Amino acid sequence: MRITKTVGQYMFGAGTIGALGDVLQEPKKNGATGVVYFVDHFFNGSDLLDRLPVGADDHVIFVDTTDEPTTDGVDAYVDQVKQQMDGNVAAVVGVGGGATLDTSKAVSNLLNNPGKAADYQGWDLLPNPGVFKVGIPTLSGTGAEGSRTSVMMNQEKNLKLGMNSDYTVFDRLVLDPDLTASVPRDQYFYTGMDTYIHCIESLAGSYKHAMADAYSHQALSLCRDVFLSDDMQSQENREKLMIASYMGGSAIGNSFVGVVHPFSAGLSMVFHTHHCVGNCIVMNAMDDFYATEVKEFRQMMERQDIPLPENVCGNLTNAQWQDLYDSTVVHEKPLINALGDDFKSILTPDRVREIFARM
Ligand SMILES: [Fe+2]
Repeated sequence: MRITKTVGQYMFGAGTIGALGDVLQEPKKNGATGVVYFVDHFFNGSDLLDRLPVGADDHVIFVDTTDEPTTDGVDAYVDQVKQQMDGNVAAVVGVGGGATLDTSKAVSNLLNNPGKAADYQGWDLLPNPGVFKVGIPTLSGTGAEGSRTSVMMNQEKNLKLGMNSDYTVFDRLVLDPDLTASVPRDQYFYTGMDTYIHCIESLAGSYKHAMADAYSHQALSLCRDVFLSDDMQSQENREKLMIASYMGGSAIGNSFVGVVHPFSAGLSMVFHTHHCVGNCIVMNAMDDFYATEVKEFRQMMERQDIPLPENVCGNLTNAQWQDLYDSTVVHEKPLINALGDDFKSILTPDRVREIFARM
């Protein structure tokens, strides 16, 4: 038997952000009146802020997404919210891409659970549900809006790992494709390809099953529509990619990723490469594992005329090679999903180094 928690309700359509005020009435019925908004710092000073129903009891916190979320950073946000709002938090609203959404999910959980973010990196470790959480994606692809995880880097442990729990799932989603109109083209592509990669990894893994596969097939079909078209960022394609992202997140919520994400996590830990561009860099070196899909990925990249960073792993020290290896093979669940229990006999230190050297 499989039990999967999904998002409570979602609203979809251009202009849907206007319904946020109504959405926030529900959690306020329980007594608390304040709302904390985590907004990607990209929007600081933009007119998007005018469209948020920020009231006297509410706080807006801009999330610096220059680097991906860390456990220490999340702890600092939790302290800030506790100090500024003194327990009066009815809802946490995340407005941004995967990093901002993940930050808002983690903070919501930690407001109702003791300890630090690092205590809950893993699977099903949270004893209590978090504060009511609303996700408003402004980028499509990571699936953070639909997933049951909140990925954070733990520098102390050289580990990038999520807070995986049913309590990490958003209670409400506002899916407004108007919000992705101003995303720079490269970022739009890299982030969208995260969905493509989630789905091909899920389909190629051993944990696959009919529910995950159905999400994956449909999301892939939408990705092909978008990235093999002439205008990947047209209104129709932005709508399609927003749905594909949610479905891709649901696919991996029902299964696991594969070889690409662990290598990409290695790049994140050692070079602070962002998740989505990291995935694309890795994907371009994955001919041994996903030959057909790598060809299609390159076709999409060419069609959209998107460049990829090159020679990412040039001139490394032995210690850096070791860090890359360690922070890749630590991801046992996806690697077992993709390659079996014996994955370390396939991903030997020499092989891993040779794959990174291609990037
Ligand atoms: Fe991903």
